[in-house]
Amino acid sequence: MKMTMPEQNTAEATTQTAAAAKPKISAHGVSVFYGDKKAIDDVSIDVHTRYVTAFIGPSGCGKSTFLRSLNRMNDTIASARVEGEILLDGEDIYRSRMDVVQLRARVGMVFQKPNPFPKSIYENIAYGPRIHGLASSKAEMDRIVEESLQRAGLWEEVKDRLADSGTALSGGQQQRLCIARAIAVDPEVILMDEPCSALDPIATARIEELIDELRGRYAIVIVTHSMQQAARVSQRTAFFHMGKMVEYGKTSDIFTNPREERTKDYITGRYG
Ligand SMILES: Nc1ncnc2c1ncn2[C@@H]1O[C@H](COP(=O)(O)OP(=O)(O)OP(=O)(O)O)[C@@H](O)[C@H]1O
Ligand SMILES: [Mg+2]
Repeated sequence: MKMTMPEQNTAEATTQTAAAAKPKISAHGVSVFYGDKKAIDDVSIDVHTRYVTAFIGPSGCGKSTFLRSLNRMNDTIASARVEGEILLDGEDIYRSRMDVVQLRARVGMVFQKPNPFPKSIYENIAYGPRIHGLASSKAEMDRIVEESLQRAGLWEEVKDRLADSGTALSGGQQQRLCIARAIAVDPEVILMDEPCSALDPIATARIEELIDELRGRYAIVIVTHSMQQAARVSQRTAFFHMGKMVEYGKTSDIFTNPREERTKDYITGRYG
């Protein structure tokens, strides 16, 4: 016999199921240093597939630093050092034999400023699948390119100009191209660091719709300065302050009934 969920909303039912599942990413006691300055202090969090998890908090509190630690992007910063443990499907991503290129395909990233390669639209998408050997023929690659652009909601706008440069697209289109590029290598997690902050409200709305569609298959983590955006797109929210994760929970609880005074101050606009 099937139990009825107390919350009937389908989206919430989906997240309830996801909550019962194993976390996609599990961070334990993570601290991140730049030289001897501690930017992230002892953060533990579980991130689940089919959730959008929002990271919020005032500028400089460490959101980007922590986000980058989830796919070892901090490795590219010479002074950065990560302590603690970050598990992807139970596997430590900082262990020495982890293939970082493979890791970044599994945990893709979309940045604040759209950063398409100075190559054709087609090549922007095909590049990743090619280096990862995901297509065995031209037809197969064409299919991956089309499907990725379809899923990023860009196909109709670019299908007749695939040979044009990716940098010739509008800002909003470039950001969808970057999302299509992340999707093309069949990731499990997509990290987004303020993906809409350079976009107008219409382009932002499109990306938000896209994020909501994508969460059906991925774990998505988004850093945002917009409370409205966090409330619209996420199911879980983590509030960071001065390098610590102060509070983490259901987005609706964080915004309507935060446990911590500092969270309340932030969401009511008292600082930040
Ligand atoms: N490459 C770096 N080298 C040294 N210190 C850094 C570096 N990047 C960030 N920091 C420092 O780490 C702290 C956290 O920065 P981070 O960029 O993670 O904050 P943030 O929450 O993403 O801020 P914002 O909302 O402004 O993007 C800050 O004090 C910042 O100055
Ligand atoms: Mg940042």
